[in-house]
Amino acid sequence: MAEHTTAGSFGASEPDTDSPAVGRDHPGRHRDYEGRHRAEASSLSVWATAQSTGPVQRRGRYVPESVKHPARMLPAIAAHAIAAYTQPGDLVLDPMCGIGTTLVEAVHAGRDAFGIEYEPQWSNIADANIRHAHDQGASGRASVIRGDATRLMSLVPTALNGQVALVVTSPPYGPTVHGLVRPGEHGVVKYDDRYNDGEDRGNLAYRDLTGLTDGFAQILRGCTTLLRPGGAVVVTARPWRKRGELVDLPSAVIAAGLRAGLVPTERCVALLAAVRHGQLVARPSFFQLQQVRKARTSGVPMHLIAHEDVLIFTKTRTPEDGSGVVA
Ligand SMILES: C[S@@+](CC[C@H](N)C(=O)[O-])C[C@H]1O[C@@H](n2cnc3c(N)ncnc32)[C@H](O)[C@@H]1O
Repeated sequence: MAEHTTAGSFGASEPDTDSPAVGRDHPGRHRDYEGRHRAEASSLSVWATAQSTGPVQRRGRYVPESVKHPARMLPAIAAHAIAAYTQPGDLVLDPMCGIGTTLVEAVHAGRDAFGIEYEPQWSNIADANIRHAHDQGASGRASVIRGDATRLMSLVPTALNGQVALVVTSPPYGPTVHGLVRPGEHGVVKYDDRYNDGEDRGNLAYRDLTGLTDGFAQILRGCTTLLRPGGAVVVTARPWRKRGELVDLPSAVIAAGLRAGLVPTERCVALLAAVRHGQLVARPSFFQLQQVRKARTSGVPMHLIAHEDVLIFTKTRTPEDGSGVVA
């Protein structure tokens, strides 16, 4: 699919004219300032996670069947979260791990990881991806449990309570997603656009927003028990439209985190667009592009979604933990 260019420059790399270090009449100092801030880009709230496309990020690093999953996380998002919130040897969890993106990126970064996945077809691919990562020399250990993460505590040994440094996950949104397309007799045909082929309510993809929020809060409650004090939870959620109306999944994620006893600490943006020469180059699916074009043709100024919200929570420390930060 051709890349699509959106309007607008990337604000984060623009100079801060309030800073005393920056003067329009001092181009040398201006360049110094930009260079320094570019070097610090890994600590910005805007994560440049789509500098290359998903297929390019996965090529050679994931087994080819991975592409069948309808809502994979960009590997760069998981890798960024792991680098930001853990140290080598730490334990990372993804309770809805799909084809195992979080786990693969964790073991490549020398972290250990485990994941839960409801659908055997995806947990099998996650297993294959972990084997592939180890064949490539990844040093972390990882395993996948097939099961319902709303019952997380019945799936993992109690010895893991308080041991997890970081949870990275993303909830499913709706029973069908964009999937892949091929030309058909009567136009474009969708495929690989479902999590499973039934109406199994155990898969949160089949619940409405309220049901999804309830189930996700249950999952996060289990994660909170497994997290160590001060541990982080990173959830990516794409704002999403159903019949043209916004489904506010990020707000539902914050509500679920609060109900699970977690403290929201940051809200970042993971770009689904590349930054090229001061412009954003979006990487939309065929159907996203079609929906936005149709809306604009009929006079609705709809924006192409080119980011995921990244909601970050922390498990608070208590005085009993014997460490500094107390909520
Ligand atoms: C948005 S996808 C996550 C994709 C994953 N990050 C990856 O890159 O492959 C959400 C996943 O949650 C799984 N899921 C849904 N309900 C679940 C449940 N109750 N327990 C465990 N996994 C579940 C879905 O089957 C789906 O694979």
